[in-house]
Amino acid sequence: MNIALLGLGTVGSGVVELLQLNQTHISQAIGEQLTITHVYVNNVNKERSVDLTGITVTDNIETIYESDIDLVIEVMGGIEGTRDIIAKFLTKGIHVVTANKDMLAAHIDELSQIANQHSVTLAYEASTAGGIPVIRGIQTGLNSNRINQVLGILNGTSNYILTRMSQDGWDYQTALTKAQELGYAEADPTNDVEGYDAQRKILLLSRLAYNKSLNLEDVSVRGISRIEVQDLAQAAQAGYTMKLLGTSRLNEADNSVSINVEPVLLASSHQLAHVNDAMNSVFVKGNGVGEAMFYGPGAGGLATASAVVSDVMNIATQSQHFNFLPTEKARVVADTTAKAYYIR
Ligand code: NDP
Ligand code: HSE
Repeated sequence: MNIALLGLGTVGSGVVELLQLNQTHISQAIGEQLTITHVYVNNVNKERSVDLTGITVTDNIETIYESDIDLVIEVMGGIEGTRDIIAKFLTKGIHVVTANKDMLAAHIDELSQIANQHSVTLAYEASTAGGIPVIRGIQTGLNSNRINQVLGILNGTSNYILTRMSQDGWDYQTALTKAQELGYAEADPTNDVEGYDAQRKILLLSRLAYNKSLNLEDVSVRGISRIEVQDLAQAAQAGYTMKLLGTSRLNEADNSVSINVEPVLLASSHQLAHVNDAMNSVFVKGNGVGEAMFYGPGAGGLATASAVVSDVMNIATQSQHFNFLPTEKARVVADTTAKAYYIR
């Protein structure tokens, strides 16, 4: 399978590294070789941390359109321009794997439709909760359930900041700078700290869980940028730990959805209170399974690459390409039951 990799930053470099590290394991598992033939970047002269021997590196997308590839991995970010590029590849019958929640939250229904029309797959495991297989978990592991709640820590950067502030007394800016150095934060970290990144992720999970289309405006958001070390210290004294949570609930009575992102005080004994640093965790409640919990690294190059490469391998081995499309539009109402600022 010939692959074009769009983007060679934190995640793109992780993808090249993982494919090299596990080359034999991967080709034995799927019965064929995954070969990156092209890499698309902004700056072709930039020094790279990974071995690109034999790979064409270009800043001209036309070179990729004209090449003989089977699959595109999009890990460059961006919304409208990136949507156009992905739509073009899908229309040409080329599978796409993406980690781009910003673009997906705006365009996933439309792109899934295009993918279905051309019998190809649009896979996006890495877009939500980094290396944790929660998209697949909901879509193919819990699909027998009627799911009525999804709740979780969905942003590694803000969880890292809150952890360092509460456990080590670091100030907000020092913790943010370190999260950027570790490759957890977005190029512009506003989305991380203001809750918009988690907003996109809870939308993608809820869309799958409830089989409903959602708009970004449906998800109300508050971030962590105004939280101070003293707030966290006071909470700890009272037995609480603060986490940025994405929460969504299907209201069974009227089939509406309530969905938000906000900093929440959890009883320090709560399982989610022990999810630290850039780890993420997602709770899903379904009428068969009861409660299921996912846990793992929510950000970082190699951890996210794990999800990207698994998507590629699944595409390589699956014979039918079906992309989930919700059958109805969500009716969204304010959350009146769960004023969850304190959860015991
Ligand atoms: P980086 O900023 O580290 O890397 C972006 C890469 O894309 C760079 O190589 C850059 O080129 C290239 N690029 C950006 N814009 C363009 C463009 N218009 N044309 C050509 N190349 C372009 O980002 P990350 O690797 O951190 O993130 C990539 C995507 O993955 C984003 O959508 C992000 O939200 C998502 N993601 C990130 C995670 C993480 O832990 N970092 C985890 C999960 C998802 P150049 O190198 O030349 O500047
Ligand atoms: N910036 C994101 C985070 C990357 O910190 O969670 C993973 O999507």
